Amino acid sequence: MATQHPTRRNILKIGGGVTLVAVGGLLWRAEDRGVFTRGEGRAYAAWHMWNAPEYRGTPLALVAAGVLASNPHNTQPWFFRITDTSIAVEADHARNLGTMDPYLREMHIGLGCAVENMMLAASVNGFTATPDLRTGPLTSDASPAGRVLAATLRLDKAEPPAAPSALHDAIPRRHTDRGAYDRAHGLPDGFLDTLRALAADMPETRLRFIADGEERKRIDTAIVDATAAIVADEEMVHDSNLWFRNGPDEIDKHKSGVTLDTAGLPPLILAAAKMLPPVSAETSHETWLDATRDVHVPTAAAIGVISVPDRHDRRAALEAGRLWQRLHLEAARAGVAMQPLNQPVEMADRDSQLGRAPDWEMRLAEFAEDGFEPTFCFRMGTPTRQAPASPRRPVDEVSGEA
Ligand SMILES: Cc1cc2nc3c(=O)[nH]c(=O)nc-3n(C[C@H](O)[C@H](O)[C@H](O)COP(=O)(O)O)c2cc1C
Repeated sequence: MATQHPTRRNILKIGGGVTLVAVGGLLWRAEDRGVFTRGEGRAYAAWHMWNAPEYRGTPLALVAAGVLASNPHNTQPWFFRITDTSIAVEADHARNLGTMDPYLREMHIGLGCAVENMMLAASVNGFTATPDLRTGPLTSDASPAGRVLAATLRLDKAEPPAAPSALHDAIPRRHTDRGAYDRAHGLPDGFLDTLRALAADMPETRLRFIADGEERKRIDTAIVDATAAIVADEEMVHDSNLWFRNGPDEIDKHKSGVTLDTAGLPPLILAAAKMLPPVSAETSHETWLDATRDVHVPTAAAIGVISVPDRHDRRAALEAGRLWQRLHLEAARAGVAMQPLNQPVEMADRDSQLGRAPDWEMRLAEFAEDGFEPTFCFRMGTPTRQAPASPRRPVDEVSGEA
């Protein structure tokens, strides 16, 4: 019997089939891993619902604005207890960052951010809101679980509703931008003065900008060194990694945490990172250190520092959060990119938690003003891409009647 030799046409046919299956498989995996989507689905619905007609004129409209606030590692550490005349903002201690935030200081900054969004939404929805921020040392209250009152907004009816402010309208457009900024373009004229003016009614905060010179070199180095110190600290890497969400299923399930989409990666690298199996906590944090050193710090037009009289006072942390939210909303309004880079303060808290020499405290002191303590550092600059939304838990998951 004559041996059958594969013809060129047959080889092409088989090869074509294999290629089709491979491409099909790749496409399936790409679809499954969310390569073609960004910011879609249930985990992102809150960004479209925040101004929904069914909430309008009710306290739920304030909560819907609150849940879109900036917050550490997207832990969304809040619960809102609602009556007709008040909203209690509770710190959900179970949603903590462990050794990354041992005194729940950043948690309370995030709660302050939510309070600020709620204040901006109040008048638009026919309320005068009066905030009562709780004071007291954070150190004595860092229990690992449970909900603890952080602030109460008293609501009085104020008809007719006020016209929305520019900051209010920026609420759904504010996103943390972890990409490269365009260093060739400076900040818009007068932008830093506008930011300073936003801090004017907050006498318990200080705001400092560091754009160049020796001081800029020192704060840049401090941010990179602090990131390296975190990456070298196994417990911090572990606790930080607990809030990393890998792929659409985890994002859908938790509607919180940090995602690859928001990591600021260039598009092709992002697609590849989504397709590949998840990397270890160590590798992802090494990548974060590289990005901090090579992208975040060198492409920033300026670094900002918010200081308060006592970093571990609950009220001071809430006030710092209110200010940060305001600044970031103004940046969104003005088309300026921003990203918190709070690693030096995280290291100062870690030193204190472990009873080590206050090396980071001393490095930070240089960037303080009037003897205040830095509690929040961030970068700003001209964006090179549109920063994406991060997941959010919707109003009904984070609120209830008092
Ligand atoms: C207190 C605090 C600390 C933060 N620290 C960092 C940080 O060091 N690096 C970073 O990339 N983002 C940081 N963020 C930004 C959050 O990760 C971000 O707000 C959150 O993931 C939600 O995303 P969004 O701001 O885009 O809505 C911080 C935010 C807050 C309020």
